[in-house]
Amino acid sequence: MSYSIGVIGTGYVGLVSGTCFAESGNSVLCVDIDAQKVEKLQNGILPIYEPDLDHLLERNIKKNRLHFTTDLAKAVHQCPILFLCLPTPPDEDGSADLQYVLNAAADIAKILERDGIKEPRILVNKSTVPVGTTEKVRSVVRGITSATVEVVSNPEFLREGFAVEDFMKPDRVVVGTSSKFAEETMRDLYEPFVRSGNPIYVMDEKSAEITKYAANSFLAMRISFMNDLSNYCEAVGADIENVRIGIGSDSRIGKRFLFSGIGYGGSCFPKDVKALIHSTDMAEKPLKIMKAVEDVNYEQIVRFTNRIIDRFGTVSGRHFALWGLAFKPNTDDTREAPAFKIIERLLEEGASISSYDPEAFENTKRIFEDRITYATSAIETLINADALIIATEWNEFRKPDFSEVKKTLKEPIIFDGRNLYELHTMENAGFEYHSIGRRTILPNR
Ligand SMILES: NC(=O)c1ccc[n+]([C@@H]2O[C@H](COP(=O)([O-])OP(=O)(O)OC[C@H]3O[C@@H](n4cnc5c(N)ncnc54)[C@H](O)[C@@H]3O)[C@@H](O)[C@H]2O)c1
Repeated sequence: MSYSIGVIGTGYVGLVSGTCFAESGNSVLCVDIDAQKVEKLQNGILPIYEPDLDHLLERNIKKNRLHFTTDLAKAVHQCPILFLCLPTPPDEDGSADLQYVLNAAADIAKILERDGIKEPRILVNKSTVPVGTTEKVRSVVRGITSATVEVVSNPEFLREGFAVEDFMKPDRVVVGTSSKFAEETMRDLYEPFVRSGNPIYVMDEKSAEITKYAANSFLAMRISFMNDLSNYCEAVGADIENVRIGIGSDSRIGKRFLFSGIGYGGSCFPKDVKALIHSTDMAEKPLKIMKAVEDVNYEQIVRFTNRIIDRFGTVSGRHFALWGLAFKPNTDDTREAPAFKIIERLLEEGASISSYDPEAFENTKRIFEDRITYATSAIETLINADALIIATEWNEFRKPDFSEVKKTLKEPIIFDGRNLYELHTMENAGFEYHSIGRRTILPNR
């Protein structure tokens, strides 16, 4: 059956979820407090870059199944299922700041109470939240209204850059609830997305909440493990890429999330690792391993930037080309982007930077304004640059015309934070090439 669904918060998760629910035949009303964003969306303009989302948005707006508003009351009136897709940024102590989620839940409850709405509502939390939040939301709602509201945990596992694909064909759907009514509704709602046989796991809400943090923290742990190991490989003359291939083909380990680089960033891993550390500390069951994961991640980017600075003695007055600003390819999201940490440090040290990214200029300009320059192509950044730095593995950086790169740079030096190129290619092309966990290529030596 199809449902009327309200999605509160129309960012990366809310917009993708809302659009995909509309695509499967539901009537969806997305709510956001950002009036400019809502206006853009009403006109079919995507405020973010996410592959495949544009045509889904267009189609579902045309079919009259997808609407956008700033009016929360409209959604509370029209929609028996309300999804919370709100930010949960880190507070100063690393804990997840729940104000957006709890305030929205309170606002919904006030509208139900004020307008005497008696039909039951299912309030589904999709934001990443610490254990106990579903209970907190329930108690906020019950403190305000006697209306029937089932509060459900439904963590989201989509990856930016593959968000539509992940939402349409999830590896699994996790639902935390003990309500039969909520369980049946959620199973029915998600049924079109799991036709290929992937599971819907219904569990207690606390386990559902922890599952999300555990998934992201585990993936962050794999990245930090490989980054830590890459430093050892460099020190003893081994090659992390060979080690990666060697362990990744073991089916117990698997090939994914084994790439060493300049550390994880983005809107999820850094904050979710912090939040899990905080929650486990509070429970006096500290997850020591996650503190190490965080330390390694911090040191990795510092080490990479130091390497650039040490190569020149001082970078004051030096000019660098930087390829890649988004925290990973196929997104315009620059939250906690490693590139930003490199930029901050090099600017502090007196260097100048010309940058290029296929999608992330708008978000970068908001932070750096005219402190760096923005080139119209990857090659343009290289003009007068003392070296090229690669921070994001966009496909278009994988096979550049190396003779043009060499000709355009002042000196043929590359610092590759993503191991995009084969060592022998760099050797043959005559570059000085610094990468992660592999020997440095020094021409003419
Ligand atoms: N981005 C991801 O890849 C991803 C993946 C899985 C889970 N998550 C989790 O999902 C949650 C949302 O993440 P996101 O990346 O979509 O965030 P986001 O910052 O992109 O979007 C949040 C949206 O909520 C809006 N908003 C804030 N307060 C509001 C209110 N009171 N009413 C209506 N709208 C309001 C903001 O204007 C913004 O558009 C977070 O908890 C995050 O950890 C994110």
